[in-house]
Amino acid sequence: MRGFEYLQNELDEMKRQGTFRKLIPLESDQGAKVVINGREVIQLSSNNYLGLTSHPRLTHAAKAAVETYGAGTGSVRTIAGTFNMHQELEEKLAKFKHTEAALVFQSGFTTNQGVLSSILTKDDVVISDSLNHASIIDGIRLTKAARKVYQHIDMADLERALKESEDFRVRIIVTDGVFSMDGNIAPLPEIVDLAEKYDALIMVDDAHASGVLGENGRGTVNHFGLDGRVHIQVGTLSKAVGVLGGYVASSKTLIDYLIHKGRPFLFSTSHPPAVTAACMEAIDVLLDEPELIAKLWENTKFFKEGLQNLGFNTGKSGTPITPVIVGDEALSHRFSDKLLEYGVFAQGIAFPTVAKGLARVRTIVTAEHSKEELQEALNIFEKAGKELNII
Ligand SMILES: Cc1ncc(COP(=O)(O)O)c(C=O)c1O
Repeated sequence: MRGFEYLQNELDEMKRQGTFRKLIPLESDQGAKVVINGREVIQLSSNNYLGLTSHPRLTHAAKAAVETYGAGTGSVRTIAGTFNMHQELEEKLAKFKHTEAALVFQSGFTTNQGVLSSILTKDDVVISDSLNHASIIDGIRLTKAARKVYQHIDMADLERALKESEDFRVRIIVTDGVFSMDGNIAPLPEIVDLAEKYDALIMVDDAHASGVLGENGRGTVNHFGLDGRVHIQVGTLSKAVGVLGGYVASSKTLIDYLIHKGRPFLFSTSHPPAVTAACMEAIDVLLDEPELIAKLWENTKFFKEGLQNLGFNTGKSGTPITPVIVGDEALSHRFSDKLLEYGVFAQGIAFPTVAKGLARVRTIVTAEHSKEELQEALNIFEKAGKELNII
C-alpha cells in the first residue's frame, strides 16, 4: 500500500546515519541477567531498581488477584471499573507519600499529561526545567497556559521566570525529581524556597526517585525533608515498584478535581486486578525490606566509581542512573552493540532523547546485581571502550 514513503525516507536516512534501532526482545524475565538471542547477558538498561518485577511477593499477589477478581476490569474507573483494591492502593500511596490523597493513572506518562492538562488554563503559567521528561513536555503542550522554560537546574534562571510571571493566576514550577537521562537530583530545597517566595505551586515528577531516594524510597521530597511543602508529587509504579502505572499524591482537593477532569483517568480503562494487587504488595515490600534500597546504593557506588576509575565520562549523576557519555550518536549505538556482543545490555541513547552531541550509553544498576556481575560488566566496558577509543 502506498502512502508512507515520506516516513520510509526518514527511516532510511536514520539507517544511513547509524541511528536506526531495532527492538531487542528479552527471552527471560527482567532480572540482573536477561536472555537475548538465546544468550544470558548482564542487564544494565532496566528501571527495575529493586528487582521487584519478579519478586515472589508481587507475583504471588498478582496471581491471587487474578483468581479472585479476574483478568480485567471492563470499564473506566468513573463508570464501573473502580474496585476496592484501586482505592486501597491509593490510600496506601497517600500514606506512603505523606499526603492527604493519591490517584492512580495507567502510567507515569499519562499521570504527567493528565495532571498538567487538566489543572491549567490560559490565565496560568507553567515554568519547566529544560530537561524535564517528555511526558511533562507533552502535558504542557496540552494546556493553554503560558510556558516558560528555565535552564536546567539553574536557580537564577528559575527566579527570572518567576519574576516575569507575577501577573498570572497560578504559577506552577514543574521538575523531574531525578533527571532520567543524567541521573542528577533536582535542587528541590532551593526550588521550594523560590516557590514560597513567589507564591508558586510545585509539581515534582519522582519517577526515578520513588523506591530509590528518601525513607523507604518515598522520593526526593522526603529525601530533602520537604514533606508538606511540595504541592504535587508524581510517581510511577513502573520502575522501582516493578509493575505498571503512575500516580499523583497531593491534596484531597486536587485528587477530587482530577477524578472529574483528568482525561486519561476519565477516558481509559482501569488497571487489571493483577497490576493493582502487585503494586500494593510492592509498597509493603518497600516498607518491609529496606535492605533492598541499601543494596541498590551500595551497587551504585561500586559501579559508578568503577566506570569513573576507568576514565569514562559519567556526567553529574548522583543516583543509580549513570550515563556513559560518548558524544557522537552513531558511536553511542556502536558502543552499545559492542557491549552486547561481549555480554552487557546497556542501550545507546541519542537525540532527540538527549541533546545532540551528548549521546550516551545509559546504565542503571539494580539491587539484584551481584558484585561479581558488576565487576564483569566493568571489565566489558573497559574492553569495548578501549576498542572504540572512548577511553
Ligand atoms: C521522569 C519520568 N517521568 C515519567 C515517566 C513515565 O513513566 P511510565 O513508564 O510509568 O509511563 C518516565 C519513564 O520513562 C520518566 O523517566
